[in-house]
Amino acid sequence: MKVGILGSGDVAKALAGGFVKHGHRVMLGTRDTGKLKDFVGQHNGAQASSFAEAARFGEVVVVAVKGTVATEALKAAGAANLANKPVIDATNPIADAAPTNGVLKFFTSLDQSLMERLQAAFPDARFVKAFNSVGNAAMVNPQFKGGKPTMFICGNDDNAKATVRGILDQFGWETADMGKAEAARAIEPLCMLWCIPGFLRNDWFHAFKLLQSS
Ligand SMILES: NC(=O)c1ccc[n+]([C@@H]2O[C@H](COP(=O)([O-])OP(=O)(O)OC[C@H]3O[C@@H](n4cnc5c(N)ncnc54)[C@H](OP(=O)(O)O)[C@@H]3O)[C@@H](O)[C@H]2O)c1
Repeated sequence: MKVGILGSGDVAKALAGGFVKHGHRVMLGTRDTGKLKDFVGQHNGAQASSFAEAARFGEVVVVAVKGTVATEALKAAGAANLANKPVIDATNPIADAAPTNGVLKFFTSLDQSLMERLQAAFPDARFVKAFNSVGNAAMVNPQFKGGKPTMFICGNDDNAKATVRGILDQFGWETADMGKAEAARAIEPLCMLWCIPGFLRNDWFHAFKLLQSS
């Protein structure tokens, strides 16, 4: 698969590394390709370009930019380059204010998630929330004593979610599909919960697992 990844930070690089490890080709999109020179040199199958070129390249697109600028980055990517494609939304709506007792502040409400805003702004893109509820170090084939962790996903398009489920299978995750885009109101705040042990105890390696009856 050809994957366009919007971003140059830790998440973009972790996921890009995972995609090339599993035989996909990636193009990372950034305002400054110089930031990715070393990464691209070290990863066969990875290249860097603008947000628009990365989105155009991808059969699947990943959004891995700061939550406050996600709309801006997608505008730069271009609505036409996102249309009818699965767009994996790994962002979190973290506000610029400092956490309180380890609890992050969000700029969204419990009645509207960031992914819903993005879906409304880019109606032809097929957004799927994924990878937002775990740290970048554990995104690709994580090893936990408790077995495979669970990635909570949601989105309005079933085919796009099937594509993301396939990627999560490769990346060593169980997938729990929480339904339509509104479920991002519950999935995005998992990031707040996930970060608390980090801020309080400097423990940044853990993941969620959904225990089910069957
Ligand atoms: N860090 C984690 O472990 C983790 C885990 C799960 C989810 N997330 C979420 O994943 C996303 C990426 O996180 P991150 O830690 O990798 O990186 P980040 O520092 O949150 O974001 C870096 C990216 O944001 C872009 N950006 C910043 N200002 C911009 C602007 N004005 N216009 C366009 N793009 C701009 C940068 O683009 P340039 O390349 O052009 O500079 C860069 O690619 C965030 O939403 C975060 O909440 C993070």
